[in-house]
Amino acid sequence: MPNSRSSWQSNIGFLLAAIGSAIGLGNIWRFSYMAHQYGGGAFLIPYLVALIVAGIPIMLLEYGVGHREKGSSPLSFARLDRRFEWLGWWMPVVAMFGIMLYYSVVIGWCINYLFFAFNLSWGADPQAFFFKDFLQLSDSAAHLGGVRIPIVFSTMLVWVVCWLICFRDIRHGIEKASFIFMPILFLLTLVIVGWTMTLDGAGDAIKNHYLHADWTKINLFASDPAIRKGAGEVWAAAFGQIFFTLSLGFGIMITYASYLPEKSNISKNALITAVVNCLYSFVAGFAVFGIVGFMAHSQNVPFADAIKGGPQLAFVVYPKAISMLPSMNVLFGVLFFLMLVVAGFTSGVSLIEAFSCSITDKFDWPRKRVVTMICLTGFIGSLVFTTRGGLYLLDIADHFVTNYGLVVGGTMECLLVGWILKAQVLRAHINKHGSSIPALWNLLIRYTTPLILIYLLYLTLVGDLAKNYGDYPTDQLILYGVGWLLICLLAAFALAFSNWEAKKLKRRHRPEEDELLI
Ligand code: PHE
Repeated sequence: MPNSRSSWQSNIGFLLAAIGSAIGLGNIWRFSYMAHQYGGGAFLIPYLVALIVAGIPIMLLEYGVGHREKGSSPLSFARLDRRFEWLGWWMPVVAMFGIMLYYSVVIGWCINYLFFAFNLSWGADPQAFFFKDFLQLSDSAAHLGGVRIPIVFSTMLVWVVCWLICFRDIRHGIEKASFIFMPILFLLTLVIVGWTMTLDGAGDAIKNHYLHADWTKINLFASDPAIRKGAGEVWAAAFGQIFFTLSLGFGIMITYASYLPEKSNISKNALITAVVNCLYSFVAGFAVFGIVGFMAHSQNVPFADAIKGGPQLAFVVYPKAISMLPSMNVLFGVLFFLMLVVAGFTSGVSLIEAFSCSITDKFDWPRKRVVTMICLTGFIGSLVFTTRGGLYLLDIADHFVTNYGLVVGGTMECLLVGWILKAQVLRAHINKHGSSIPALWNLLIRYTTPLILIYLLYLTLVGDLAKNYGDYPTDQLILYGVGWLLICLLAAFALAFSNWEAKKLKRRHRPEEDELLI
């Protein structure tokens, strides 16, 4: 048989892989920047609320579905209800073609910078170095220009490493790699955070900007409507970040849980994954706020002027700070970019796994051939992001995919499980396999979480339609068109895969749980 289903060798191996998927580039730069923008310590409140009302419940849902149906998201959803196989495809298709294609290029940049760190090649002006010398950014998205050869090579390296890891079955590939990568990642993070804390200005910045709370920014009941509106945005951002950071809505956690042995504690695993991931973000925040504080202190500029979000935080702010360190700059730079590379790889392999497992589940093709095909196509597809206009495309893909692709997937899976399978059936399954979860969970999955997500979707849509998108000097219309085109293409892919006739899907019978349906 080509595909007798593999399983994790140990629960800790599963946990390391799932936490590895959750901890990624987003924990290091996305979280800190949001915390800064949205009220410092006060942001932690909406973040925690989002974790409790959406993050943990959906993590439980994804682990529960994967464990119960023993399949990737298309197979699992088809087993729940044949009419929903398309949703199962939407999620890994978005993961693979919406995210991994550019995520691999960003890991590639980190590899380039890892080498640059050896002689601090970014020089005195890292901003000019990043945009002009490294990316050679074109003046508009309409002019993609040629590919950047150094980025093509590093991206190729990323795909080769991912291929080597995913090529082997889960316990010899991803599980083994996680056992190596995750301890390295934790160690590197601790070293970087500890080192940062010794720098002048770091402690003050952490105290005044990270742990200090600006409560007005999260006050949804303020009498001033402008404050209320701003607070609404903060809460929406917190929910978006929780989804992204926990890798929910991509089919990844469903796939990973499908390799769990029958005897597993589902709820405990879900709780550990979510909590460790968020704690990691919190700790990594000390490094980011600390280093920006150190820089602001050395240059004598206000903290708010020194911090930047997104790619600029890692590729402009950090290089600048690294060059300014009093000693051992090269070592710090190498360790920092190594940390990013490792965090990126453990997330990257999970994106590939969700898609390749979906294919092997449906078509019964041999895993090795499928993974090879996917990595080859993935590499070719990611070339578009290595062009001189790649950053524009990357930005638009990220915006559309995280705000629409992911939230739609998350809402739909809540509705599917909440209303079609019935939340209490899945809850009974989760309770039978591990610690019990309260009945409140049914309520969250059926009403609260989908309603919040739909509201989020509405907010983003209104925001997008109201303002011109992006800060880059480029034609807005083209970018918008590209964004919507991407969403349509992904939907077409998902439909094509789900309508492709392949082996019959058998529903797994569980009479004792289905009784609850009556
Ligand atoms: N969770 C990862 C992060 O925070 C990003 C990611 C999303 C990884 C989806 C895999 C899948 O960076």
